[in-house]
Amino acid sequence: MKIVNIVGARPNFMKIAPLMAAYSKYDDIEPILVHTGQHYDEKMSDLFFRQLGIPTPDINLGIGSGSHAVQTAEIMKAFEPVCLEHKPDAVLVVGDVNSTIACGLVAVKLGIKLIHVEAGLRSGDRAMPEEINRVLTDSISDMLFCTEQSGVDNLLAEGVSKARIHMVGHVMIDTLLTNLEKAKASNIHNEMNDNFGIDCSKGYGVLTMHRPSNVDDPIVFGRILDALEVIQNDMPIIFPMHPRTRKNIAGTDLGNRVDNMKNLHLLDPIGYLDFLKLTSNAKLVLTDSGGIQEETTVLKIPCLTLRENTERPITAEIGSNQVVGTETQNILNAYNRLKDGSFREAQIPPLWDGNAAPRIVKIMHEELK
Ligand code: UD1
Repeated sequence: MKIVNIVGARPNFMKIAPLMAAYSKYDDIEPILVHTGQHYDEKMSDLFFRQLGIPTPDINLGIGSGSHAVQTAEIMKAFEPVCLEHKPDAVLVVGDVNSTIACGLVAVKLGIKLIHVEAGLRSGDRAMPEEINRVLTDSISDMLFCTEQSGVDNLLAEGVSKARIHMVGHVMIDTLLTNLEKAKASNIHNEMNDNFGIDCSKGYGVLTMHRPSNVDDPIVFGRILDALEVIQNDMPIIFPMHPRTRKNIAGTDLGNRVDNMKNLHLLDPIGYLDFLKLTSNAKLVLTDSGGIQEETTVLKIPCLTLRENTERPITAEIGSNQVVGTETQNILNAYNRLKDGSFREAQIPPLWDGNAAPRIVKIMHEELK
């Protein structure tokens, strides 16, 4: 049973790692790992392979950056010959990035079964590129693995047959639970002390921001900075910056404002273990990422999501996440409530127990025979 597995962008790596480990328990599964090269910087890609023990990709398509159309089309052109040569029984894609839909489309057009891990999530916001990728990938997939009940409900409402949908939990949480102990050895707290004089034991916040709706729009970015200006008076904020964000603000007024905030500390992108150590000990996380809403839920760390919606509603319903939008006052109101101690104890969503990948591979093994 030959299964081609796709990774392309940073959030894919923590999702594929436990699947590659789970395949190794089956003698009759031959996994092939394909990296599209959507992300290519050492700190956005190779570092994650090393830290998470992901095997070196069998094939790297080396596509890199581009407009949505160019990136998607180049991945498709490069991936089709791979499928023709290897003739896999199935192609497995994870998440919602451009590599996900590009490779999914190639597979189904060649009559190869398509498996989508993290299916069914919907923000309802079609202006978000990932939402288009999610809807399209799910509509062409043969097997759909969901992380939360909303995913199952969304797929059923869209007419996907029940037999194709499997609620299995979350492979990204498998990776988090596997690495939590290892992350304790990270030196990042000492580095923060050496580089910025931050005593991490006294409390700090972590910020990530890279969504085009936030960082490509100077007005929205400015509103978020207004809120950060207030929060950084209470605690240092550590901001590992995505290359998209850095490129956008370089040499602009926004860039100057970020540089001038005394207690907002910029880092280059950091590895998985350093980031896990930072978030698991933070007082507060502010983010526009999808996955970080879920990781903070498992870690029970308060998270303010700087977006108008979430495709991962369970994190806000029972987890530690609050979707606060991007209006300065709304961010600060939520922050002040946290400061006053009104923080609901997070519950961990069903099946986020570290065993999602073995469940998925067992089902695949049975159904693809
Ligand atoms: C992509 C995903 C997004 C995911 C994010 C995680 C899509 C549509 N978006 O967004 O869902 O949350 O990855 O990081 O697939 N760049 C570098 N080095 C790299 C990669 C990118 O400098 O290794 C810069 C380039 O200037 C590039 C820009 O970042 O143009 C954006 O990269 P791209 O892969 O197009 O989208 P992301 O914003 O990273």
